[in-house]
Amino acid sequence: MPHTRLDLDRIRAARQVIHPQFLDTPLYECDALGHRLGCTMSVKLETANPVRSFKGRGTELVASRLIAQGRAAVVCASAGNLGQALGWSGRRRGLDVTVVASRWAPAAKLDRIRALGAELELVEGDFETARERAASIAQRRGVRLVEDSLDIETCEGAATIGLELASGAPSFDAVLIALGGGAMATGVGHVLKTLLPAVEVICVQPLGAPAMTRSWHERRVVTTESTDTIADGVAGRYPIPVVLDDLLEVADDAVLVQEASIIAGMRMFLEHAGLVVEPSAALGVAAVLEDRDRFAGRHVVTIVCGGNVDLDAYHRWVRT
Ligand SMILES: Cc1ncc(COP(=O)(O)O)c(C=O)c1O
Repeated sequence: MPHTRLDLDRIRAARQVIHPQFLDTPLYECDALGHRLGCTMSVKLETANPVRSFKGRGTELVASRLIAQGRAAVVCASAGNLGQALGWSGRRRGLDVTVVASRWAPAAKLDRIRALGAELELVEGDFETARERAASIAQRRGVRLVEDSLDIETCEGAATIGLELASGAPSFDAVLIALGGGAMATGVGHVLKTLLPAVEVICVQPLGAPAMTRSWHERRVVTTESTDTIADGVAGRYPIPVVLDDLLEVADDAVLVQEASIIAGMRMFLEHAGLVVEPSAALGVAAVLEDRDRFAGRHVVTIVCGGNVDLDAYHRWVRT
């Protein structure tokens, strides 16, 4: 049993709070993809919901607890998907949602945040600048700041994916998880290390945004000066110490992949699975492409965690 901030009973209880549209997402073996990758490849599809990413699982918990506490407003920093998810969960419950994001975030994500009725504030810098700004807004207004991966609800929500993987058949050997702040990897990892300890939990980050992966290998927080990746959903620079502690308990490995492999992964999803995925969701396939021997003949699950892309950029990527 891993010693993390997570608790299996709380994760099970979370399922009662999360809107069913985010739960029990498809999990299926994708023959065509597996054939090209030399392994059995199953996908856990987290894009077939109103915000096209897994983040709604966590924001459902955040928003329902805020309502239970009688709170009326909430603020978060977002690379784009958390903001949409909080917008969706907040709107359903009448919460005022403010999202702070980089003005360089994909326009499709920013447009959807606005369309969901959230107040969107843009900053000139990257996600870490947005985090600072969101914290100061929350302090000034006296409202709850949602901090992705630090706030336990965001990890518990993502962890419900792990419950679904553990109860799905048939069994599998490894799961590939995109690693950003770590909510998804620590959540899913906690459940799998508790219920299916033999499954290898492998986190994947881009070489251009390696802070959490380096931190995991060095067992201490390592920050970076900048990021350089198309995988905007995982491009953080400042790992959160307690999240790293949890990740050290539940991950078997953390690997870095090149941009060309991420693009190849996106193209493979389109061509062989009929799925439009954003770069962060292609990290798992990228990891297999870069180390085919490691996965040869094994049953691997990859979590297709987001599908929000700008059309022009997406066309450029999949055409190259
Ligand atoms: C599509 C997508 N994949 C992966 C991640 C990274 O997840 P986490 O921050 O839980 O590690 C995010 C985060 O927003 C995301 O939007």
